[in-house]
Amino acid sequence: MHARINFLLHLLLALYSAFRFQGCASDAYHHTITAMKSPSSSTTVGSSASVFLQVTGNVYPQGHYYVTMYIGNPPKPYFLDIDTGSDLTWVQCEAPCQNCLPAPHPLYKPSKDLVKCNEQICVDFHRPNQPVCASPDQCDYDIRYADLGTSSGVLVREWFPLRYTNGTMTAPRVVFGCGYDQQVRKGATPPYLDGVLGLGLGKVARHLEPTSRTCDHYSLGTAEVFVGGKTSGMKDLPVLFDSGSTYTYFSEKPYKVILSLLMNDLKGTQLNKADEDKSLPICWKGSKPFKSIQDVRNLF
Ligand SMILES: *[C@@H]1O[C@H](CO)[C@@H](O)[C@H](O)[C@H]1NC(C)=O
Repeated sequence: MHARINFLLHLLLALYSAFRFQGCASDAYHHTITAMKSPSSSTTVGSSASVFLQVTGNVYPQGHYYVTMYIGNPPKPYFLDIDTGSDLTWVQCEAPCQNCLPAPHPLYKPSKDLVKCNEQICVDFHRPNQPVCASPDQCDYDIRYADLGTSSGVLVREWFPLRYTNGTMTAPRVVFGCGYDQQVRKGATPPYLDGVLGLGLGKVARHLEPTSRTCDHYSLGTAEVFVGGKTSGMKDLPVLFDSGSTYTYFSEKPYKVILSLLMNDLKGTQLNKADEDKSLPICWKGSKPFKSIQDVRNLF
């Protein structure tokens, strides 16, 4: 089970002026964000209408990947976690902030241009439910991630200055979340970032582009599962790419098969189940503390 994640190091994002920030572009501007494997791929899809954002980060020790986005006028920088697994872009914000997490930049001061509760983009965002707003003058959001982290706030409109690859500047007005209440699972260490760049393809995009979009996710196609170099017999499993998730998740059946093969593989090694560690359903521990990831790899 060796994760092939090296390509992430070369991940670049391209913005095209024919798409939109996932679920969050104003109607007047339609911008696309596309994740690409390497700069060279840009020649196939790239045009003067592309914007490239350099991705920074690593699997370890940081554990996340981010881009620098400039927001507002005058523009200020924010480090945003790139997340192909969620739809909403949000930035920690001084609305005032009720609960903000430690971050590299000062909180974003929201524009006065709030999305209203009855606006189409608010209705689309909450679909299939009706928006529930504290006031008709604002569009509240509440997003919950698989790792139990949450962000609550309101949708605002703001300038996002960007430079096309041909050098021309553009500043679309983008709808995104001003997050004034961020929570993480107890004991979890949140990434040291200012917010999330949601690149998912759900909800609003699907609603607004019903014919052009048949898939809501970044699909990697199908996979065959190998454990210890041997096939598990499970193949043609559809796999999704979620850049914002720390763990790889399996559905119940493959999870059980992989676990049982892994348990078999680990028989006779120095690894023992660590029932006292409740962080995940199954944990193992070595006979002595590990000094590096390499020590762990040697056991699998
Ligand atoms: C650069 O590309 C953008 C987007 O296609 C276009 O609007 C702009 O006119 C181009 N600028 C130049 C100098 O060609």
